Amino acid sequence: MADVTVVGTGVIGAGVARACAAAGLEVAVWNRTASRADDLAARHPRVHAHPTAAGAVASSPTTQLCLLNYDITHRVLDESGADLAGRLVVQHSSGVPDSVGPLRERVTGAGGRYMEAAILNYPDAIGTEGCFTVYGGSAADFAELAPVTKAFAGTQVHLHTEPRYAKAYHVVASAFYYAFVSGFVECAAIAELLDVGLGEFAVSVPLYDPGFENTVKVGLDLIERGDYAFEQAPLTTHIDALENLARVAGHAGIEQSFLTAMRDRVRTAMDQGLRREHIAVLTEQFRARRAAAPQSGERA
Ligand SMILES: NC(=O)c1ccc[n+]([C@@H]2O[C@H](COP(=O)([O-])OP(=O)(O)OC[C@H]3O[C@@H](n4cnc5c(N)ncnc54)[C@H](OP(=O)(O)O)[C@@H]3O)[C@@H](O)[C@H]2O)c1
Repeated sequence: MADVTVVGTGVIGAGVARACAAAGLEVAVWNRTASRADDLAARHPRVHAHPTAAGAVASSPTTQLCLLNYDITHRVLDESGADLAGRLVVQHSSGVPDSVGPLRERVTGAGGRYMEAAILNYPDAIGTEGCFTVYGGSAADFAELAPVTKAFAGTQVHLHTEPRYAKAYHVVASAFYYAFVSGFVECAAIAELLDVGLGEFAVSVPLYDPGFENTVKVGLDLIERGDYAFEQAPLTTHIDALENLARVAGHAGIEQSFLTAMRDRVRTAMDQGLRREHIAVLTEQFRARRAAAPQSGERA
């Protein structure tokens, strides 16, 4: 009998299996491409590869689902006929909150218990101080998961008793992450256009951290209050910068730049008579559009 099962040993599943084994847990694994699971087992004595997903699930009380997405997770569970009765099943695949219900029903309908998890870091960080994972599910199930969360190390947060909340949180975190990625790839193109060495630019990046945190903190406070009066960097200071940046982005060959989108949003806000407000006031444009549109199903 193993302590934990990992279904799917791609990069994230392999990271989960490695960290659990390093923490002294016996780990049952299954992967569609058996050689990937076999390689992992060959390198880690506590990792045991199984020829079937059903066999791996039956080997331990807790299963970590680490497949590419929800559709594939359903397919693997369908085709394997894994018996989920009495198991604590934790879903790690990325998805949207609406993906959660059907999988949860499948697991609980089969007599299992269901949690959602979202690992917010690269797989290499699992088992280190840099691991940050959020969970949704009952407090009792989260407590039962302690050997695994301990193996993950770093910061393991039980966010909510509602599993889909963890996936909603992950969507928010991913949107934030891709804003950064988008900023990086666009600024690399602009650096090339303007003959600025990317390496020279990179040296300055850590210096932005405090300003960045400040923007988020101040912005959050203003969004919560719905009052955007803020003299330090009002819209009037952003519009010139964004007019220039949107033009430069065009010269750099960037299509659909976020800089153009930001410029247009600030223009819209100024057309509405806003001037001395913090740029977080742009969120009101999204609120207004949501209020005018029918409710989406993607709520936590
Ligand atoms: N990598 C990250 O930084 C990270 C961080 C947090 C969350 N995640 C999420 O974790 C999930 C897995 O990502 P990953 O990075 O581990 O991807 P990956 O390395 O591509 O692994 C994908 C896994 O899904 C399996 N799979 C794919 N198609 C399948 C199919 N038709 N039938 C059965 N199994 C199938 C793969 O098996 P084979 O080996 O046979 O292809 C493999 O085990 C994704 O939802 C991802 O968004 C990733």
